[in-house]
Amino acid sequence: MKAVVDKDACIGCGLCPSIAPDVFEMGDDGKAHVITSTVPAGSEDAAKESEDSCPVNAITVQ
Ligand code: F3S
Repeated sequence: MKAVVDKDACIGCGLCPSIAPDVFEMGDDGKAHVITSTVPAGSEDAAKESEDSCPVNAITVQ
């Protein structure tokens, strides 16, 4: 499973690192970054929840 953040779309709401801290972190640019593009085992559900929860649909998990 891979996670990608569209940095042009991200508005820096901070939701995804709070839901899936092993997958996403906030960067110095105020936008979310993936910590590792391959979602760690055990974080798949949280990654999917982040994708569903992002207010601007900036996250793709597949
Ligand atoms: Fe950005 Fe969406 Fe995460 S706006 S901080 S990618 S929940």
